Amino acid sequence: ADHNYDYDVLVIGAGPGGYVAAIRAAQLGLKTACAEGRETLGGTCLNVGCIPSKAMLHASEFFDAAKNGAMKELGIDVEPKLNLDQMHAQRRDAVKGLTGGIEGLFKKNKVDWKKGYATFQDAHTVKVGDETVTAKDIVIATGSSVTPLPGVEIDNDKGIVVDSTGALELPKVPKKMVVIGGGVIGLELGSVWRRLGAEVTCVEFLDEILPGMDGDIRKEARKIFRKQGIEFKLSTKVTGVSVKGKTATLTLEPAAGGDEETMEADCVLVSIGRKPNTDGLGLDAIGLETNKRGQIETDHDFRTKVDGVWAIGDCIPGPMLAHKAEDEGIAVAENIAGQTGIVNHAIIPSVVYTWPEIAGVGLTTEEAIEKMGGDKKAVKVGKFPMLANSRARTNHEGDGFVKVIAEAESDRVLGVWAIAVPAGTMIAEAAIAMEFGATSEDIAYTCHAHPTHAEATKEAAMAVQGKPIHF
Ligand code: FAD
Ligand code: NAI
Repeated sequence: ADHNYDYDVLVIGAGPGGYVAAIRAAQLGLKTACAEGRETLGGTCLNVGCIPSKAMLHASEFFDAAKNGAMKELGIDVEPKLNLDQMHAQRRDAVKGLTGGIEGLFKKNKVDWKKGYATFQDAHTVKVGDETVTAKDIVIATGSSVTPLPGVEIDNDKGIVVDSTGALELPKVPKKMVVIGGGVIGLELGSVWRRLGAEVTCVEFLDEILPGMDGDIRKEARKIFRKQGIEFKLSTKVTGVSVKGKTATLTLEPAAGGDEETMEADCVLVSIGRKPNTDGLGLDAIGLETNKRGQIETDHDFRTKVDGVWAIGDCIPGPMLAHKAEDEGIAVAENIAGQTGIVNHAIIPSVVYTWPEIAGVGLTTEEAIEKMGGDKKAVKVGKFPMLANSRARTNHEGDGFVKVIAEAESDRVLGVWAIAVPAGTMIAEAAIAMEFGATSEDIAYTCHAHPTHAEATKEAAMAVQGKPIHF
């Protein structure tokens, strides 16, 4: 029998996955609501993630350029003075503007915001606060939160042992900051406070920073950060942090085991990864289990094992990235509406928004060789240094390189990696090229405007053929 539901679609969570799914569902003519427990829409990304971190990165870049002599080199003499309160105020403004913007988009598209945290009663019913809401289809887009380090207590209010949220709003520049984890958050937020004057040491469990990225890129990135003044302690694990007064004492141990040492800091950032928000959602009520990592498994259409329940974003497997969540949000809404929504998970760019930026899409060199059964000759790599790119050089932005990885036999591009000031923007053309099944020759013979950093991608593609012009 046909049911009379309150809504066609209810989305749980209003992050980049959820709010995009809700808007797309409404655009497709479905009666849609979105439950969100936070005071503002936009999820982790807009409130405490992508946006506020970029606001602090951008502002601190200017301060650093004024302070470290980069502006002087360009003929601009300045004596910068940090006004941290104003820097935080412009960060809060950016967040307020964008989260308010989503509220406007909800109104415009007639998406009802159900304020509160949702828990399942059955597969078509959730409770949001005191309200019961029913829907034919429910999308779980509850996102992720910080992975705690066992035995280490985070207190963002005190600003001594913090997670990324606390590290965005430190009321003063720490003298000595230790970052636990050489991943994306550690390097981005470590860079912010290094630029503003903190001494930063990054402790990483593995033998290299930025796991998952191309090997060359990881090594070069560390060299660049080292040059900027960030210290690294690799192959080291943090076994505990204790706080006395205003000082934190960390205990460290070689990853392979061995003698313990200690280190003091006035600020410790715990950034060892994020975990899916799947507890407290009442998944037992609908008989939905999570995998070992707490994620909800779905099929290619984002359907869970329970009929009418779908899941997207950080709470399902795959990279925990806003654009991946957004694309899944569009696809799930299209699938619910009976269309064909697809996300190509093989081509999701990732970007670290440091100076210079670090970006990649597709396979790393190591993955490409593995895919070819370990045959190094089956993979061709072309590299082009930013120092040989006229625009980067003119701008004093010579650090980094672009690397194009292609299958030797077909010349098809398997991956592109870059360290360059605008690498995040540059990687978009690589993603498009790969979506269209481009060969390195296709990129090499595409006219790129001069002088742009993007010419380095063209020349790296020419290098796959063995013949760049400028290097
Ligand atoms: P989220 O954004 O986490 O949103 C989920 C929402 O669901 C939350 O608002 C939560 O309150 C709500 N919720 C949870 N449970 C319930 C419930 N039961 N009922 C109602 N609501 C609920 N990614 C990038 O791509 N680029 C970046 O530059 C970037 N920078 C980042 C910087 C930092 C410091 C951090 C922490 C993350 C960053 N990320 C970045 C990752 C990005 O924020 C996430 O990948 C993205 O937000 C995931 O979107 P989502 O919609 O799946 O979940
Ligand atoms: P991460 O997974 O990127 O990095 C965590 C690092 O900590 C790893 O290198 C890991 O080896 C190390 N580590 C784990 N346990 C450790 C220990 N005990 N001691 C020392 N090192 C340890 O996680 P991070 O930086 O917390 O970020 C979480 C997620 O947020 C990212 O995976 C990413 O998906 C997302 N994000 C994305 C951004 C972007 O796209 N620019 C920016 C910030 C976050």
